[in-house]
Amino acid sequence: MNRIYVFSSTGTSLQIANDISENLENTEIISIPRLMKQKYWTISGETIGFVFPCFYGTMPKLVAQFITGAETIDTAYTYCVATAGGDPGYSLKHLKEALITRGSDLHYGRKIVIASNYMNGWYYNLIQPKKEILEQKVNNAREKCHEIAKDITLSVKMIEKANFLNYLLPQVISPSRYIRDTRAWDSEFTVAENCNSCGICAKACPVDNITIKEGKPTFARNCQRCMSCIQFCPESAFLIEGKPMNKPKYIHPSLKVSDMISFNS
Ligand SMILES: Cc1cc2nc3c(=O)[nH]c(=O)nc-3n(C[C@H](O)[C@H](O)[C@H](O)COP(=O)(O)O)c2cc1C
Repeated sequence: MNRIYVFSSTGTSLQIANDISENLENTEIISIPRLMKQKYWTISGETIGFVFPCFYGTMPKLVAQFITGAETIDTAYTYCVATAGGDPGYSLKHLKEALITRGSDLHYGRKIVIASNYMNGWYYNLIQPKKEILEQKVNNAREKCHEIAKDITLSVKMIEKANFLNYLLPQVISPSRYIRDTRAWDSEFTVAENCNSCGICAKACPVDNITIKEGKPTFARNCQRCMSCIQFCPESAFLIEGKPMNKPKYIHPSLKVSDMISFNS
């Protein structure tokens, strides 16, 4: 069995995994946060893929914990597709290093850029692709996934070059975000009066960090800052550091909020 381990909040990485698996036989797609809800997990398969978003120029801390916490990592061929809004920076490089420390390796790595879901960025509205551009990027990504699947079948060894500037820039723009303990990130989140207590944020949170108490979300200090809660809030009721997040929402156009909830929970 080929396995693709995925971390995805707004669907880009999940759809990339879907597109790769369409062209690979016997492929199972597994949600990383869902697997990590178990006390123990192993990472194994005839081939192993990792598909995840770049967070702050590197792989998300959750993915790093997934690698370090695995009981065993067992495969002959490992690949990764890192998705991003601009460029995945050092995501592939850091994943390779993490795998090497576990006695494994990364043999093949590609980058796919579709759109940014990082709503907190001041530049978010400026870089959101228009509908036609988004469609074009989605189609290009699908074609790239066919190519990637062929390469995997042939066990091609090649990793796209890490981009130092795209690693450095997010650290410079948001140093506190990178340095601070990720679990406390949710202390910056509040909800406005218009929260209608629907509970979608709690259902969508991949790490079960949100509980609805007295009709309002409360946070358990285990936030990954993946933006699911904020992106999927139908009332745009979330604020970060007091700033309203009533901006245009992003979810991969082939997926719905309910798909993401069922994939991660
Ligand atoms: C906390 C956070 C940090 C991010 N940092 C970067 C970054 O440094 N560079 C970049 O190009 N995109 C960055 N992004 C954008 C995501 O990598 C991109 O939208 C990704 O494709 C989302 O994948 P998903 O839809 O599978 O969750 C960031 C997103 C989040 C939520």
